[in-house]
Amino acid sequence: MRELAARLSSPGSAQADGGFWMPMQGSTGAVVVDSIFSLVLWVSVFFFVLIVFLMVLFVVRYRRRAGREEAEPSRRHNTPLEITWTAIPILIVTGIFIWGFQVFLNISTPPANAYEVLVTGQKWKWLFTYPNGHVDENLHVPVATPVRLVMTSEDVIHGFFVPAFRLKKDVVPGRYVKVWFRATSPGEYQIYCTQYCGTGHSDMWAKVVVHEPGGFERWLEAASNFLKTMSPAQAGEHLYRTRGCAQCHTLDGTASTGPSWKGLFGSKVTCEGGHVLTADEDYLRNCILNPTENVPVGFQPVMPTFKGRLTDQEITAVIEFMKTVK
Ligand code: CUA
Repeated sequence: MRELAARLSSPGSAQADGGFWMPMQGSTGAVVVDSIFSLVLWVSVFFFVLIVFLMVLFVVRYRRRAGREEAEPSRRHNTPLEITWTAIPILIVTGIFIWGFQVFLNISTPPANAYEVLVTGQKWKWLFTYPNGHVDENLHVPVATPVRLVMTSEDVIHGFFVPAFRLKKDVVPGRYVKVWFRATSPGEYQIYCTQYCGTGHSDMWAKVVVHEPGGFERWLEAASNFLKTMSPAQAGEHLYRTRGCAQCHTLDGTASTGPSWKGLFGSKVTCEGGHVLTADEDYLRNCILNPTENVPVGFQPVMPTFKGRLTDQEITAVIEFMKTVK
């Protein structure tokens, strides 16, 4: 709750920087999408005002009143007028279609030199995998560079949405969807999930961090080496936050979807089926790799396996971190 309040009131958030009607424009695509949206909006406003004005005017002017009980005789048909009011809307909507279709093609076709990031949606977290194998919980990108996202889901349909980029695409299990964008200024932009995907849907947040020229390479280099630069427990905490552990395991003793990690290491765990195991390194490692095997009593076997998603070194780091959560 406190976290949510902080997010909403954070003065630096991308939304706060936008205007009253729209979030700020953070990408080249946002500018064209907004232009076409404005065109449709103002054409609609113009005709709405015109039609309502004429309607009210005619109702007042030609109303029935004393001495004017019958409608005045008037022309039933006016060919030039009818051609005009048919041709003008056709020209307008054809123009909107042609422009919109061009923009749609442009948004759907990434430039050949685009930098590629893999995006995985899962309950309830976005994960971003960089070409060197680094996985992060936020999308870091260089400024003014086309970035192509290849997105898929591990479980249900999620909706990848970056309001500042006017970028929104459903992420579907069992297939890859692709989008691209070119960020125009360094900063942080909010990512949302727009498909109701379960309990943690409203928590499925992440950020696009747009780096200054050169900053992205430095960030990627430093971020990829965290196992070398941090102590195992620190690295474990980083993994806890970036690999989705935190979605289900608290550190303060409250049970969530999974057991809290507080005091977990070394404790006796009663598993489904009645057997009691000690939560030592081997037990925890097995829980991470085969999560449905020894499910503690009171929890559902819903944890996904981390086989192939965490290396041995990373699993060790996570267990080292668990030991520090007392
Ligand atoms: Cu993922 Cu809503």
